[in-house]
Amino acid sequence: MSKINAAITGVGGYVPEYILTNHELEKMVETSDEWIISRTGIKERRILKGENQGVSVLGINAVKDLIAKTSLDPREIDLLIFATVTADMTFPATANIVATAVGATNAFSFDMSAACSGFIYALTTGASFIKSGMYKKVVVVGGDKMSAIMDYTDRSTCIIFGDGAGCVLLEPTAEDVGVVDSILKSDGGGESYLHMKAGGSRIPASHETVDKKQHFVYQEGSAVFKFAVTNMAEVAAQIAERNHLTAESIDWLVPHQANKRIIDATANRVGITEDKVMMNIEKYGNTTAGTIPLLLWDYEKKLKKGDDLILAAFGGGFTWGAVYVKWAYNS
Ligand code: UT7
Repeated sequence: MSKINAAITGVGGYVPEYILTNHELEKMVETSDEWIISRTGIKERRILKGENQGVSVLGINAVKDLIAKTSLDPREIDLLIFATVTADMTFPATANIVATAVGATNAFSFDMSAACSGFIYALTTGASFIKSGMYKKVVVVGGDKMSAIMDYTDRSTCIIFGDGAGCVLLEPTAEDVGVVDSILKSDGGGESYLHMKAGGSRIPASHETVDKKQHFVYQEGSAVFKFAVTNMAEVAAQIAERNHLTAESIDWLVPHQANKRIIDATANRVGITEDKVMMNIEKYGNTTAGTIPLLLWDYEKKLKKGDDLILAAFGGGFTWGAVYVKWAYNS
């Protein structure tokens, strides 16, 4: 039997309508448009407004976009994985909610928690189910409603994050395309630098945790920055080397959008010029697990069958990694 490859055969995405600009943030915290742009590259981010609007809303809209674009029959979806750290509820899994809402009645579904690396973890997992021959249609979603866990009085975090979700469809192919290779890493030693203190089983929600603002993202920005620059760049270079890819042969670097300076450092390490680096941080900020699929969504029309893509991410955990994808279709 010939080898089964896991091809990305479609992309969907969704960002909410409301645009939170740097100028609006200037009225909320002591910051400036100039500082935010020069230190992060972000000009605006999207925010999901309204009562009872969880990350599932972002995921459902992204998967509906995928279904509309690919004419996929949702009843044929075997598995739906949702990478997120801002699940609608601790349980049930947001993936269950999304799968049912989009009509994926025959799918089993689960959430995956790997913060900003969530999408590449989930993509690798979904691709493994395809490559094993077990499933034929796997939908991998990455998205976060970061505004739900953001302290809009903390200028060091609230300027970075935004809301959004993207997704891909994975299908088997005998062609030499698809998810070729992955390097995934984690280090629980990163906990102290980037976490949300309360609301889990260690420190359940209480009046005290609310008063102490422990339900918001806590980040030691400059420490995380240093780990991110080193590890994301290193793993991107490593996957390129072990697959005999060169700066010239790589068509696209698809880096997690946390900070333009981290993206630039990763591109420099791999030797890739700016025109081959996907970037949309200026309009969405950091959507955590949403950044990489939203890049694929934004750049889909520019991608050609056979293009070599390096996806790379770094985030809370710490988690990080890189995935080598050979693009499977022309739009
Ligand atoms: O995606 C998940 C992983 N997360 C990341 O990869 C994020 C990595 N970290 C970063 O992107 C950056 O560290 C930040 C954007 C969060 C912060 O930028 P920085 O250049 O590392 O700034 P800093 O934290 O070292 O702070 C430098 C100065 C401080 O003032 P003093 O102490 O030098 O007077 C901060 O108080 O900048 C100040 N500052 C700000 N000033 C204006 C911090 N945030 C702001 C702000 N506006 N929004």
